[in-house]
This record gives sequence, structure tokens and C-alpha cells, in this order.
Amino acid sequence: MILSIESSCDDSSIAITQIQDARLLWHCKISQEKEHSSYGGIVPEIASRMHAQDLPQLLEKAKKVFDFKDLKAIAVTTQPGLSVTLIEGLVMAKALSLELQIPLIGINHLKGHIFSLFINKDTTTFPLGVLLVSGGHTQIIEAKDSKNMRIIANTLDDSFGESFDKVAKMLGLPYPGGPIIEQLSHKYQNNDLYDFPIPLKNYKDIAFSFSGLKNAVRLIIDKGADHAKVAKSFQTTACKHLLQQTERYFKRFTTPKYFSIVGGASANIFLREELDKLCKKYNKTLLLTPLEFCSDNAAMIGRYAREKFLQGSFDEITKLQCSPKSGDGEFL
Ligand code: KG4
Ligand code: ZN
Repeated sequence: MILSIESSCDDSSIAITQIQDARLLWHCKISQEKEHSSYGGIVPEIASRMHAQDLPQLLEKAKKVFDFKDLKAIAVTTQPGLSVTLIEGLVMAKALSLELQIPLIGINHLKGHIFSLFINKDTTTFPLGVLLVSGGHTQIIEAKDSKNMRIIANTLDDSFGESFDKVAKMLGLPYPGGPIIEQLSHKYQNNDLYDFPIPLKNYKDIAFSFSGLKNAVRLIIDKGADHAKVAKSFQTTACKHLLQQTERYFKRFTTPKYFSIVGGASANIFLREELDKLCKKYNKTLLLTPLEFCSDNAAMIGRYAREKFLQGSFDEITKLQCSPKSGDGEFL
């Protein structure tokens, strides 16, 4: 079994994954949404303190269910994320690795999100196109296999999830904004939506941008607009933008047969449905993560760690560090 730890942002999570068949044996997560909700975003200092309190609690819980002598490796998210929260998981992982005398495996959080597609499956599906939408990232990634993942498109400013958080804040709603904006959008039944311009419509490259849309939303709110209508119009435009850029990717590249959407914001049902239609049009098979594993969790970290374990890819305890940035240039 592998014990995995996730603390890159505002979720403390620990999971136990069976190496043999990739089965998720145990998973537990403590979210800090309440602690950050009134600030409209994550406060790193608070997040760090909460991890220092919550991770040991989760470890105690896991210890009651499993004999740690059966563990074969410790995995931990090392990048990208908040330095002050990543370090909490890393220190715990190093202590466990030393105490149990078992190898350490550092995990890239974004690759973890991609491996959320394969939780409880002992096979993987590559080559694979990926739309990654989280609180920190909005990217199209082409994954040749588990080691070779190239970034095809990136955001020029905010991320998709972050724009939901900011619009929620403008409407006086708590963090995280994604699920709240999605719910609010259902309250508006008409089709006469605000005509927000779709970002980067005539841009030559494949890229994302949400800051212009965010400003357009702000102007409408200042004029006293209906909140549910704002939520639905914003969500529709933001998703149309994602789809337009994804369609560009399908048109301009020879793309893999499999496409997927991962990350916290991939829980958005409207986005899932629209992407499903687009994939059908281009004859792609769409892979989706179960809703419970879209947002940050240690199960996806454990699933990717199992892959690295089988490849014999381990990290040295004295050398493994955390980093706020991901990978190396255009590669994850
Ligand atoms: O992947 P994640 O849990 O954390 C990061 O790695 O960043 O993603 C969190 C982000 C937040 O910005 C949140 O508002 C957004 O995902 N999100 C959503 C939805 N659920 C979560 N955005 C749009 N629609 C949703 N249903
Ligand atoms: Zn994430």
C-alpha cells in the first residue's frame, strides 16, 4: 500500500492506495472552505496553520484502520501550490518515510488531477488530451504517457475557477465561488442572457483569458443587475470560451482519440455537458473524473504515486523539495 498526502492549497487529505490493483482503500479530507470563505480567497497563513492541525488528525485516523508496517511508500504533493502549505505535507511525508524506512515519492499536483481519471482502475488511457480547470490553472495539456505531458495552451491572466471565485465575491457570495455560481445560475430560467463578449474570439493562438469577462460582469453588477441572470450569463460565456479554444485545439492539431476534463472546476455540470457535445462532434471519447474526486484530494496523488512506484521512480529524502511552480517550461 502507498500512503499519499495532499496539502497544496486549502484541502488536507490523506489516502491509502493498494499497489497491486490501484484500488483506493481509504480516503479522508478536511476542507478549509469555512476558514477562508469570508476573505473571498485563500489566506496562505491560515491555510498553513490549518494543515498543521488537520494532517496529524487524518494520520491518526488512518493509523486506526491500517498497520503502517504494510506501507511500501509515502507519496506527497510537492508542486505546484502554496509554498507554506506544501511544506506541511512534505515534512510529514519525510518524517513517515524516515520512521518506516520506506521510499518517498514526490508528486506533481496537476499530473495528480490527470490521474484522478484512473482512481480505482488498474489501467490508464494514453495518449490523452486534457482540459485542466482548477483554481490556479487553466490549460490544455497533451499527455503522451504518464511521463511526457506537454502544455498546449495556458491562461494569459486568471484561471477559470478563479474567475468564478471573483464573480462570487462581487455578488457578495462566499468562497469557493464555483459551486455557488453554478447553483445560482439554475435560478434563472429565461434565455435572454447578458451578451458578454467571448474572450480571445479573434486571437491567433490557443489561449485563455478571464479578466476582460470579469470586468464586463463587474460593470453589469454595478448597474444593479439580477444576480441569477449574471451568474448564468457569466457561466455560459466562460464555458463557451473554454469550448471555443478546445475546438481550435481539435481543428489545428492531430489530437488523440481520448479527451478529458480534470481539476476542481471540472465538476461544473454545464461545462461537462457542453464538452460532451463537442467531443461527439469531433469523434473523441470524453473521460470524466467522478464528481467526488474533481476537487483536490489525496486519492489522485496516490493513484499517480502507484504509477511511479511501478516505474521505480523514487525521490531522495534529503533532496526532495517543494515548489510553487509546476514542471519545466512547456512540460508539466
Ligand atoms: O482543483 P481545485 O480543487 O483546487 C486547485 O488546485 O486550484 O479547484 C478549485 C477551484 C475553485 O476556484 C472553485 O471555485 C472551482 O474550482 N470550482 C468550480 C466548481 N466547483 C469548484 N468552478 C466552476 N463550477 C463548479 N461547479
Ligand atoms: Zn487542484
